Amino acid sequence: MSDYKFVTKFVVDATRGIINRKTEERKYKDMKITVLEGGLSPERDVSKKSARLIANALLRKGHEVALVDLYDGIENDDSPVGSFFRRGTVQPYEYDIPESEPDLEAVIAAHGGRREWVGPRVIELCQAADSVVLGLHGSHGENGQIQALLDAFNIKYTGSGYLGCAIAMDKDLSKALVAGAGIDTSKWITDSPANITLERIKEEIGIPCVMKPIGCGSSCGVSVITSEDQVGPALEFARKYEQLILVEQYIKGREITVSILGDEALPITEIIPHEGFYDYKNKYQPGLTTHICPAELGEENTKRAADLALKIFRILRMEQYGRVDIIFDEENDRFWFIEANNLPGMTDTSLLPEAATHAGISYDDLCDRIARQCETRS
Ligand SMILES: Nc1ncnc2c1ncn2[C@@H]1O[C@H](COP(=O)(O)OP(=O)(O)O)[C@@H](O)[C@H]1O
Ligand SMILES: [Mg+2]
Repeated sequence: MSDYKFVTKFVVDATRGIINRKTEERKYKDMKITVLEGGLSPERDVSKKSARLIANALLRKGHEVALVDLYDGIENDDSPVGSFFRRGTVQPYEYDIPESEPDLEAVIAAHGGRREWVGPRVIELCQAADSVVLGLHGSHGENGQIQALLDAFNIKYTGSGYLGCAIAMDKDLSKALVAGAGIDTSKWITDSPANITLERIKEEIGIPCVMKPIGCGSSCGVSVITSEDQVGPALEFARKYEQLILVEQYIKGREITVSILGDEALPITEIIPHEGFYDYKNKYQPGLTTHICPAELGEENTKRAADLALKIFRILRMEQYGRVDIIFDEENDRFWFIEANNLPGMTDTSLLPEAATHAGISYDDLCDRIARQCETRS
């Protein structure tokens, strides 16, 4: 190649590179994103915190963002849909999670007793966006219902599809599938509260055990039972949330969680609550739980846990991102599946963002990647 041709080719290639890069940047910067928060879920407050931090990160990344509560929607406002999208980082969104779980009946009463869980203009706002980022946790947000509804409108959204959500959100179904694949998960029973008795627990499960509603998150309704007199109160607590209750053997060991982004496991986190177990308060009040990331498991056990979590992720039909909770019973060298989360917490004390940071992915980049993932949904 002559010098002239070489220089020309170099200039053309370099220019093409710059144009391609600019087009890519513009494509991503120009995304219009609706972030859904709240909803009628026991995890309403946690979701508001997650969603607002996500919205702030996406605004910092240059996206145009509309933040809306799945249940509240936009009431008594006929402004054009475009006016609910904003740009820029002045006045970031804020939210502090109260110590106790929200009173959903009070929320419903404040909205004139309306029980439809999709608020006014929510679908319209989602249709106006390139992508809907689900900052939701629990109930309709995580059990596949909002995913199926968005599918029906051909709207792109983040996280697992409706089937993966429905399976992973049901602790009974997910344990059955995981156990069916030969993976350890503690012995359990699932039934309506009337059929869960002390006698049955003693006979079929034993004490200590853990009682939980089958389809909640954030430890809502979960009790660790260490004596017979705790069964009654635990049952009252769990049945407040749902009519199907799961009781399983308590597993003694190190609690770990594996965050998954795309097809990869992020660094594993060990969770050590300073008191009691990893309940609602220990999850969301800063300073009450120590997270060790990367968990000190050694190279071989780290790989075993990561491979196991990825396998479970696939068995449960999960996609894009999520988290798998496991207890490592070191004495018997066994990893026990506890449950999987398809829209894991994205607050500043949450585990997936922390694991991403250890993998060199900043919070803003993580949110950006999650928002863009829906472009590749099949
Ligand atoms: N079988 C079990 N053995 C020991 N601890 C458990 C068991 N199941 C749950 N836990 C404890 O309860 C917490 C919440 O239970 P989990 O099933 O993960 O519910 P959630 O979906 O609300 O996070 C866990 O993080 C763990 O600390
Ligand atoms: Mg959990």
